[in-house]
Amino acid sequence: MPAMAYEKTYVMLKPGVLQRRVLGEILQRIERKGLKIIGLKMMQIPQDRAETHYAEHDGKPFFGDLISYITSGPVVAFVVAGEDAISRVRLLAGATKVEQAQPGTIRGDYAAVTTKNIIHASDSPESADREIGLFFETDEISEWDDPNADWTV
Ligand code: CMP
Repeated sequence: MPAMAYEKTYVMLKPGVLQRRVLGEILQRIERKGLKIIGLKMMQIPQDRAETHYAEHDGKPFFGDLISYITSGPVVAFVVAGEDAISRVRLLAGATKVEQAQPGTIRGDYAAVTTKNIIHASDSPESADREIGLFFETDEISEWDDPNADWTV
């Protein structure tokens, strides 16, 4: 098995999370796993930023719906850090397609439609760097020491 790596990842709770009052429940799953929230904000994503974020899906049949949905209301975005944070958050999130998302995962438990699959999480270190840079200023990210590290790391 490859060595673990300390990573940062971009996590975004999509529109509807605030309206459904489930922000706390979802955030709690990430915290309970022992991952560290080092950036956190609510924002309304402008159209051009949404298109840049999802550029790899430009031209796919669901692209228009994806952009109009992600810009339809405020999202809640995080920078999450920790050992293997990218793959760990994606495991917590579950499969992209809701019909494949296992119960017990965030999408498995909260999402009914793939376009509205409730959470986005970076899929690689390169995507994480790009996405964090697209949505967070450097001074909006605070690394902090973890006095509980002996219990979680
Ligand atoms: P996300 O992780 O935010 O990254 C791209 C998004 O496109 C994805 O979650 C889904 O919301 C959406 N998506 C991906 N594949 C499909 C698909 N086959 N049909 C509809 N939406 C999709």
